Amino acid sequence: MSYQVALSFEDGVTRFITCGPHETVAEASYRSRINIPLDCRDGACGTCKSRCVAGEYDGGDYIEDALTDDEAAAGFALPCQMVPHSDLVLEIPATAEFAKTGAAVHAGSITEVRRLSASTVAFAVELDDRDQLAFLPGQYVNVAVPGTGVTRSYSFSTGPAEKAVSFLVRITAGGAMSGYLADRAEVGDRVEFTGPLGSFFLRDLVRPALLLAGGTGLAPLLSMLERLTDIEVAHPVHLIYGVSSDTDLVELDKLRAYADAIARFSFDHCVADEASTAAHKGYVTSLLTPERLHGGDVDVYLCGPPPMVEAVRGHLRESGIDPANFYTEKFTVAAEVGR
Ligand code: FES
Repeated sequence: MSYQVALSFEDGVTRFITCGPHETVAEASYRSRINIPLDCRDGACGTCKSRCVAGEYDGGDYIEDALTDDEAAAGFALPCQMVPHSDLVLEIPATAEFAKTGAAVHAGSITEVRRLSASTVAFAVELDDRDQLAFLPGQYVNVAVPGTGVTRSYSFSTGPAEKAVSFLVRITAGGAMSGYLADRAEVGDRVEFTGPLGSFFLRDLVRPALLLAGGTGLAPLLSMLERLTDIEVAHPVHLIYGVSSDTDLVELDKLRAYADAIARFSFDHCVADEASTAAHKGYVTSLLTPERLHGGDVDVYLCGPPPMVEAVRGHLRESGIDPANFYTEKFTVAAEVGR
């Protein structure tokens, strides 16, 4: 059986390769013309040592000098020896440039521009080469804004297995993508993007997960939830979605549908504006109760603006709770990096 292996490079580029039955990751990389760091290719030098953050594998034969038992227990493995037993995500200790590869470019046509609220627009793209695009739920791409010569970063709001790819954009005055979507975008327009990129992606669910979204930071978490509809979810997954005002609140119907479709998924939302009609007024930290933090036995995924990241970090510090993992994706609305 063949498996898909995501090679996540230090510069944020991710390349996907297919590993055939009994094939090592190094052999599959070589076949795909991706030069991951290698020396002995025999499990002796440790040059290829990489951390596996998702999936199962046979670590193969190697000596202690190349990989200690402690390192193996911490998830490190030797790509020149390892053979996947499932799809894998590997953190490669090199840049994509070093490996003589780079992020792929994909092009397609806009199929939908949907105004979700006064402040938020979703757009969908049908790619010319959808079968060539693989990404991890949570990752982003750099979109070339049509007619401008500039790029903006957006996370997929759709899951890796969905045919169409979609994105959420917060409309900001003077923003390049905002201007395009609000004034000029039409179904059929050609659009190009580079990616996938980023280390903010869903890992194996081995403990409870807490998803925290600020504004259009909801997009990558929607992609993660879509992925969860395809697998057995053995731990509770809770999402807290915070926005500034009622007009920023979007995709609640979608979240309700995920709550119906994913057995152990629940969500809350809150609005900072005092005048909001929402049941919870305030910031996401007001909903970060001890019950949601499972005494620290929780993987936290946060996508939101820098002040939100800092507020959550401060809240955790004051609570004396150190989550098992804390994955963040920061974006700045001013730079219109709407992911
Ligand atoms: Fe030497 Fe893998 S290349 S241990």
